[in-house]
Amino acid sequence: MPRILLIFLTGMAILHAQPAPDPMIEDLIRSMTIEEKAGQLNLMTGSMDVTGTRASEGMEQKILSGQCGGVFNVYTPAATRQLQEIAMRSRLKIPLLFGYDVIHGHRTIFPIPLGLSCSWNPDLIRRTARVAATEAAADGLNWTFSPMVDISHDARWGRVAEGSGEDPWLGSEISRAMVQGYQAGDLTAPDSVAACVKHLALYGAVTAGRDYNTVDMSRRLMEETYFPPYRAAVAAGVRTAMTSFNDIDGIPATGNRWLLHDILRQRWGFDGLVVTDYSAIEEMIQHSTTENGEQAARQALQAGVDMDMVSELYLKKLPDLVKSGAVSEEQLDEAVRRVLTLKRDLGLFKDPFARCDEARAKSVLLNESHRDLARQAARESIVLLKNQDAALPLKKSPATIALIGPLAANRRDMLGCWAAAGNDNLAASPLDGVRKTLGTTATVLHARGSDVDDSEHVRLGGSFFPEIDPRGSEEMLAEAEKIAAKADTIILVLGESWEMNGEAASRADIRLPECQRTLASRMLATGKPCILIVMSGRPLDLSWESSRFPAIVQAWALGTEGGNALADVLFGDFAPVGKLTMSFPRAVGQLPMTYRAKNTGRPANDKIRYTSKYIDIPNDPLYPFGHGLTYGTFKYGPVKVSSPEMPPGGSIQVSAEITNTSNLLATETLQLYLRDIVSFVTRPLKELRGYQRVTLQPGETKTVTFEITDAHLSFPGPDFKPFVEPGEFDAMVGPDSARLQSVRFKRLEK
Ligand code: GLC
Repeated sequence: MPRILLIFLTGMAILHAQPAPDPMIEDLIRSMTIEEKAGQLNLMTGSMDVTGTRASEGMEQKILSGQCGGVFNVYTPAATRQLQEIAMRSRLKIPLLFGYDVIHGHRTIFPIPLGLSCSWNPDLIRRTARVAATEAAADGLNWTFSPMVDISHDARWGRVAEGSGEDPWLGSEISRAMVQGYQAGDLTAPDSVAACVKHLALYGAVTAGRDYNTVDMSRRLMEETYFPPYRAAVAAGVRTAMTSFNDIDGIPATGNRWLLHDILRQRWGFDGLVVTDYSAIEEMIQHSTTENGEQAARQALQAGVDMDMVSELYLKKLPDLVKSGAVSEEQLDEAVRRVLTLKRDLGLFKDPFARCDEARAKSVLLNESHRDLARQAARESIVLLKNQDAALPLKKSPATIALIGPLAANRRDMLGCWAAAGNDNLAASPLDGVRKTLGTTATVLHARGSDVDDSEHVRLGGSFFPEIDPRGSEEMLAEAEKIAAKADTIILVLGESWEMNGEAASRADIRLPECQRTLASRMLATGKPCILIVMSGRPLDLSWESSRFPAIVQAWALGTEGGNALADVLFGDFAPVGKLTMSFPRAVGQLPMTYRAKNTGRPANDKIRYTSKYIDIPNDPLYPFGHGLTYGTFKYGPVKVSSPEMPPGGSIQVSAEITNTSNLLATETLQLYLRDIVSFVTRPLKELRGYQRVTLQPGETKTVTFEITDAHLSFPGPDFKPFVEPGEFDAMVGPDSARLQSVRFKRLEK
């Protein structure tokens, strides 16, 4: 039985066995007033970062009077120590939780999670989470609001930047790796933090890709596609979970007992702490499923929410709701118990200041080994989308290189959305990286060339959009052309600034902004060799660019070491290995889009009118899930199967030959997909069920073998429990989800 299922079932068994009551916690609960109990459920925001619609007020007084159980958006040993000391002066001296959105690093920033997922390297991702936890804990924190594991098929939604793409199998592996990285071993260790799987649930399926919008989907789609990564985090022992802003079957997730009790606790065996997203309890009034704060607080507590992020409705309303009998004190105690248990398990009762160590912060934050890991993570996150006539890698020869584009010299944009305590002054931009790599070998020129986005809405927009250069577009374009005229090669760095993806950053048009496309045209018109680097937090519509540029590199937001890693790839010190974890559409009109599409009753056929297709563009993506080139080339031999039949509970091996047909050392990630040919429900034409990275010497041939067991064939049955049915399956192997060779086998009935 493969790991994923074994871990899940083991996790279920362990979690179902309720721990014996802890006398210390029970005594403490007995000594608390109802107001103090409500206070423990109150999570307040500090002001070192702004991540939501409103601020918290009166924090220090509320901590002193036992009306605050935790704080987020406050970090550093000094700032957290100061608040913890106030908590130690409260009547019961209950220590505070300190949370923060350490999503892809704390001070050392790694590539945004969507970029990192393109490494297809869960062990690397686990190591980045381990470093993030070490740095966060050294900076006074004991809780991170990560991993964000929301599956999404819609690049209009800006938060795809925070997730691991469209596939539940890979997303589950990454989810587990991040939880293991954050919570490594003993949670009381001062370099561990509690992780938080979010956003529960289905948030990545917001209608029309518009953030905070409603979600509506079948139970089958939930179970097959959206639930698995949350479940994987639970099976990996994640200690907290965060509810999402959206509704599910018409009930807001924050007040949804079916989700938070029946599914999350009963079915998946989660016994940790549930926290809401930012002011989400109060937002149930906007959702119009509750009339007022009392109803919202009662619905949330009865659904299974333990901590209230920022709305303060638990603080204000729960005492009276308990006194009036509308809510039982036992239910209140259950939530308090989970908060106190987490604090105990983090070692906070033993030493509330263990993570407030200035000396450790100095030695840990952004140290050399963390920077090295950040550079390796960034290298492996880069995806080479196109490389016509081996335009890349570039030579480190005496030449003149022009770095042009609004993102070429930006350090802040390298850190991407949710950059936590990242320091952009210490980050390497593409220009920094190229200059450092080439040193005096070549002349490196730079021009901005255009704004990131100068369209009308940006001029009228608030402060969330990138700055507008006072020189105006024509002057910037003229400067870029002058620089380009002196250059042998142009490296054009275009894309999204950090504000243009992440939360509250949905886009209805996912092309490069018009002013950047104008710059691109002008650079192409120079006739100079021009390499396109795309920095973005989502798949963009690169149809126009894909037919015009000889080479296109998808560079996401690569983090603190991003510019250095990019230069490593551009000049051949590291050959790209990244593979897309989200399909790149030809047009926004294709969204939502996933490679895990179903056949339909009328599969697309360009020769037959009445079939499922667009009349203006092909159905398939511009760049498919799993796509990514490197500097070598490969030939794939036929796919073979060890036996045409697989007995129940048995296994078969699927193997494929791969040959490095280049004169370079080359690395490839081969992928295994399965298709259930006939089932009791419609099933995807292919589903990722394995992958292996191989490195081959020039001319070397290797046979890559995948083992298939029932766990690879398993999917939610009629009762949505793991289910395997006999019948024929196709096993497909190849370098991406579109270029596959297939072999059929039969899973026997008995
Ligand atoms: C935000 C985000 C959530 C984050 C929280 C705290 O609104 O939705 O992902 O963890 O607030 O900053």
